[in-house]
Amino acid sequence: MPFVSDELYNDICMANDIVDYASSFLNLKKSGRSYMACCPFHNEKTPSFHIDRDKQLFHCFGCGASGNFVQFVMRMEGLDYRDAMRLLAERAGITIPENGIRQSTELTKRRDMIYEMNRIAARFFFDSLMDPEQGREARRYFGERRLSKKTITRFGLGYAPDSGAALLKHLISRGYSEEQIVDAGLAVTRRNKTVDKFRRRVMFPIINVRGKVIGFGGRVLGSEETPDGFKIAKYLNTPETPVFDKGSNLFALNIAKNTNETDLILCEGYMDVITVHQAGISNAVATLGTAITDAQAKLMLRYGREILICYDMDEAGTKAALRAIDIIAAAGGRSRVVRIKGAKDPDEYITKYGAAGFKKAVETAVPSTEFRLSLIKSKYDLNDTDGKIRFVDEAAQIFAGLGDPVEVEAYIKKAAADTGISEHAIFGKYAELRGRSRKQPPKTKESFKRREINRLNSQKPPEERVTGTVIEAEKRLLSLMAQSKRLCLKAAGIMEPEEFSNKIYETLARRMTEYAKRGEQADASVILNGFSGDPEAENTAAAVFFNNEVYSDNDETLYDLIYTVKQNKLDARLSASQNVEEIGRLIEEKESLERERAGWGKNGASEH
Ligand code: CTP
Ligand code: MN
Repeated sequence: MPFVSDELYNDICMANDIVDYASSFLNLKKSGRSYMACCPFHNEKTPSFHIDRDKQLFHCFGCGASGNFVQFVMRMEGLDYRDAMRLLAERAGITIPENGIRQSTELTKRRDMIYEMNRIAARFFFDSLMDPEQGREARRYFGERRLSKKTITRFGLGYAPDSGAALLKHLISRGYSEEQIVDAGLAVTRRNKTVDKFRRRVMFPIINVRGKVIGFGGRVLGSEETPDGFKIAKYLNTPETPVFDKGSNLFALNIAKNTNETDLILCEGYMDVITVHQAGISNAVATLGTAITDAQAKLMLRYGREILICYDMDEAGTKAALRAIDIIAAAGGRSRVVRIKGAKDPDEYITKYGAAGFKKAVETAVPSTEFRLSLIKSKYDLNDTDGKIRFVDEAAQIFAGLGDPVEVEAYIKKAAADTGISEHAIFGKYAELRGRSRKQPPKTKESFKRREINRLNSQKPPEERVTGTVIEAEKRLLSLMAQSKRLCLKAAGIMEPEEFSNKIYETLARRMTEYAKRGEQADASVILNGFSGDPEAENTAAAVFFNNEVYSDNDETLYDLIYTVKQNKLDARLSASQNVEEIGRLIEEKESLERERAGWGKNGASEH
């Protein structure tokens, strides 16, 4: 049973508009019946991303991303189907009734309970910070770090008291069990005794894009050394829980996603982000105490066009920046590096050079390739022949990893000017490395099509795998069926849904036929809901509704396509068969298919 009924889904979608919603992220231009923009799901310079307002669907002809409205919301906001549905319902002022909801699973209940405990905990830490007695030391600490009351409130900062079980008691008084509190990562049990996880620390709540508190970072007050000489961790983070995964969330993204800035600034620390925001720049985020992951890069690229890396400029920070550049590039994005000269981190930089100084540093952030080149340049003496050769060697390696030929050319020119070595020679070096490197070619239309064919075949035994020709013909056949009830019924008379070569197409054919038999136009958006949650299936299914070809509403095209599909499959089986009897049977089948083909449309057999 779906989360919401088809009717309710329609109500919710009717009250929203995908073009409206998308225009808060994308610079949409109207073109004919559709709206176009640069695709938010891959990196491109010329728009191949389309939104069909009538059908309320999206499709990228560049990378193949495709789906209905709710699937678009899922990808843009990083939400699951239910939460995306809830978000749309909320926008429309519609409440999803209890009976429209599948019984919530154990895990959903556990998650909701943790969100609620975290919310209570965040409030508790904030109140403790504001408590005249209890919060004095922590307030003084934030004061020394120059955080205003407004900043503290904006980030919901707090203080975890020293008493050992203050939060634990508070949550128990609210009806939670020790076990549940430990499950939320807010308490720990050691030697049969349960105590607060965070004690005598200033607290940074981590809030996801939906505004839920998913976890906390807690920093020691001042020094990492206790008076009795013990060293304690400067930061303590919530452990992995059903709602908290350090590698797939970012600090302050809940705030940064709402700014008008086109880019996101990536910092290393919570305090850096907070001071940057206090300086009037609200598009800064930070990872949660670990190096940036692929999931975090993708999450950032959903909200920012480019990522401005703003790490410490020491050796560790530089290394981390280089890693971040690679991970962002692998996620299909671009990055720049903000140079924090004369200070150890953005926090100190702002204290020294002010908000204006920092803004300037952000505006003059250097493209990641330039940053990488400047690092190797500083290693070698470019006045020395040997230095030049080594520099060109390393630079060519960087060039060989770049996807954009224009970028390659621009930097080769620059390297030539810097060294006096000819562009031709540097290009030769680059081409040699490029030829050798086993790097994946950039994703093109062709390769995503091939990937799709491989994926659709991957579950099947070899004899049932089909060629791109069959898949293309099936896809066009479905497009035709989607466009015309009449042709859909005709197709249903001569080809069974199970004859399609994969489950996705089979389901589409079956659902379209159901609509046609009721005399209704197939509702693409509703049908696509059946594929929600598996992005690749969403892409494959939705692409059927985005066929650029214009068909005349005649039967011949339909018959040709069905014939192509059936005949290709028989041919494949024929060429795979080793068995004389089977071959004989297949040849008979083929002949009978040809006879049928000649009869289609003549005897009215398909009218039924
Ligand atoms: N971090 C951590 N555990 C530590 C030290 C650091 O998880 N023992 C993480 C935190 O997320 C921290 C980030 O790494 O925010 C960067 O570390 P650092 O630069 O030391 O922290 P800042 O946020 O700059 O804090 P402060 O300025 O108070 O030292
Ligand atoms: Mn710092």
